[in-house]
Amino acid sequence: KNHVSIGLLGLGTVGTGVAEIIYRHQDQLMHKVGCPIQIEKVLVKDGTKERGWPANDIVLTENPYDVLDDPELDLIVEVMGGVDETKEYLIRALENKKSVITANKDLMAVHGPELHEIARANGCDLYYEASVAGGIPILRSLSDGLASDRITKMMGIVNGTTNYILTKMIQDSRSFDDVLFEAQKLGYAEADPTSDVEGIDAARKMAILATLGFSMNVGLQDVDIKGISQVSGEDLAFSKKMGYVMKLIGIAERDGDEIEISVQPTLLPATHPLAAVNDEFNAVYVYGESVGETMFYGPGAGKLPTATAVVSDVIAVIKNMRLGVSGKTVVTPQYEKKLKSDES
Ligand code: NDP
Ligand code: HSE
Repeated sequence: KNHVSIGLLGLGTVGTGVAEIIYRHQDQLMHKVGCPIQIEKVLVKDGTKERGWPANDIVLTENPYDVLDDPELDLIVEVMGGVDETKEYLIRALENKKSVITANKDLMAVHGPELHEIARANGCDLYYEASVAGGIPILRSLSDGLASDRITKMMGIVNGTTNYILTKMIQDSRSFDDVLFEAQKLGYAEADPTSDVEGIDAARKMAILATLGFSMNVGLQDVDIKGISQVSGEDLAFSKKMGYVMKLIGIAERDGDEIEISVQPTLLPATHPLAAVNDEFNAVYVYGESVGETMFYGPGAGKLPTATAVVSDVIAVIKNMRLGVSGKTVVTPQYEKKLKSDES
């Protein structure tokens, strides 16, 4: 076979973006990995839905095992969402020796460590850059660019939907419901937007960041969470008058072995850099003992920014396959502990 074959789980907002990028950037991708990349099969819920290009060039199926058990597929890209059923699918893929790329923070925040272990045991990769902060390569920056440092604090805006809602409520005096509806139409919100507006999506992302940044196992239960559903237009107008801007801010901080993580609506002085992060954009400050303060900024949700992160993971995974290092490149806290105990 002279190409890499992908099985895609999901062809909604992000899945369509992944297919578009793979078709449109084929020459560039070929240059990066040395061979064509093809999406061979896609799992969808409703195979009869009218979809148009690029779906009409791909085989669609409603049977997950058509994709997961197809020996012709080299890797699986999961952009369907969900937790329990999706976890079983990804385990099946990994046990079939197929590396997995996912955008699913709901799954990774809860079952990430277990899935990493299964991936490693099967000599596969599990990459999940798109699960935090959409198009911003924050996970790669933590695991590669800042790998030599000791991260002490991460803070920022990690949910695009709530930032979009707050921005439009403040700037255009629009109602919460009206802007949430628009964010859903634009593809920023989760299938059930409760997780966005109640701060749970941001909390999952902070747990993933803390797990990676602090090399600790951090779960959703470790995060103090407050969302923006109780914030009114009057609150925002009054804050603005007083020179403040309200943002949903996630903070993860460590002091020795103690960690504190929270997500909550926070009043920032209008001059604070995070106060200028508007619409669906995200920004994350990362503080390292040696590097000091770094800031990452970019689109935090939406079709093409998120798909860019997914397809960049596809490139990384194919490179690992070619080098024969799949399953050996990501060190999770559990694996780090295991390596240490194996050494001693
Ligand atoms: P969508 O709801 O737009 O798309 C979901 C896709 O998965 C659809 O094609 C749907 O099929 C399919 N699907 C869902 N459930 C099943 C199932 N049980 N069996 C088979 N197919 C199924 O979601 P998004 O593209 O917005 O999000 C996908 C994932 O990416 C989620 O995990 C989300 O949290 C994550 N994500 C999303 C971002 C965004 O900006 N939207 C940003 C970062 C991450 P059908 O088309 O037939 O309905
Ligand atoms: N619903 C999420 C958000 C999608 O608005 O940030 C990106 O993870």
